[in-house]
Amino acid sequence: MILRDKSIILGVTGGIAAYKAVEIASRLVKGGAQVDVVMTPAATHFVGALTFQAITGRPVAIEMFALLRETDIAHVSLAKRADLLIIAPLTANTLAKLAHGLADNLLTAVALDTRAPLLLAPAMESGMWENPLTQENLTRLRQVRDVVVVGPATGRLASGAMGVGRMAEPAEIVDAARWVLGRMGLLKEKKVVVTSGGTREPLDPVRVFTNRSSGRMGVALAAAARDAGAEVTLIHTSGGPPVPWGVRAVEVETAQEMRDAVLEAVAEADALIMAAAVADYRPAQTSEQKIKKTSGPLVVQMERTPDILAEVAARRAELPRLRAVIGFAAETEHVVENARDKLRRKRLELIVANDARAAMGAETNQVTLIAADGSVEELPLLPKEQVAERIIARLATLL
Ligand code: CTP
Repeated sequence: MILRDKSIILGVTGGIAAYKAVEIASRLVKGGAQVDVVMTPAATHFVGALTFQAITGRPVAIEMFALLRETDIAHVSLAKRADLLIIAPLTANTLAKLAHGLADNLLTAVALDTRAPLLLAPAMESGMWENPLTQENLTRLRQVRDVVVVGPATGRLASGAMGVGRMAEPAEIVDAARWVLGRMGLLKEKKVVVTSGGTREPLDPVRVFTNRSSGRMGVALAAAARDAGAEVTLIHTSGGPPVPWGVRAVEVETAQEMRDAVLEAVAEADALIMAAAVADYRPAQTSEQKIKKTSGPLVVQMERTPDILAEVAARRAELPRLRAVIGFAAETEHVVENARDKLRRKRLELIVANDARAAMGAETNQVTLIAADGSVEELPLLPKEQVAERIIARLATLL
């Protein structure tokens, strides 16, 4: 939703990673953005303008002097109305020009003219990146402009050497773009804690009790809250989807560790969303050594884990800032009735009820939102990303 109808200029400079900018353009277009690509002349040696034109469905601008022949100076107006200027890849050369206000090609001219935030994805040899001149240029640029930098990552470079200077992956750059565009959203200045994934309760050093949760719903909620401008802490277990850009992540394993991390994080938070599938039981005893098999059956005594939501509920009086606690109810029968009961017991503002069998591990989810005021909203079957946006919209009204 956050990319829909946004006007984004994608600047492409002359680096080997220019071909990856095609994927950035494609992802932005799929998200509903209007994407205008501006290439430097050097970039055209690496990737064809026609490729971008086909993907964005819009003309690609390269030549400064072709622009001057136009009666309507379209690219000047483009600079004025852009919501965001992404430059990916950004060469050391273009960075130096941006830092010094040079405008010797169309891209640097647009960059100088626009007041839109700048999202930069540098890509260059390590020597160039680490050179104090390049670092100074970046510092100088940050001092005077609203600049967000993604990467560079460490890996194989154009020269074949390994080192820092690889352009961040397109998915990460688009994720960062979402963060920049969402900064002024409905949840601006709100702190939201989200939990995700299934906890893992050890039996011995090599075995755990866990569940089928993929972590997808929680990560989608973290991304949607971030898109709405919130400052998000994601308390997650391992093996889930990548942590969204701009989200603070805390990795935990057991229910006990998740409880400790949640209680610490909620002290400062406006909202808590417990999307994690927390184990209700753990082995009463954890063996220090690997349990060897015997001919007979194995009996494992299980004990209760802490109920995190119940503990938060018990502390609500000490947490005046915490205005909304959202729980999930993963049921296999009597979904709405059981969820209503949980809402009351755990003193929640909202509960998201779903059929555990359909939701766990799936890409889609069909949920019913039940609020403390008694209202019931049944959502259709949707991708988890869209379910997350609907829940975050409700959170915004609660806050
Ligand atoms: N939850 C929690 N701490 C636990 C277990 C669950 O905070 N130890 C949270 C989940 O993250 C979810 C909500 O409680 O948001 C509902 O979890 P669920 O296990 O479905 O409900 P329970 O209240 O444990 O009820 P039951 O096991 O009887 O279904």
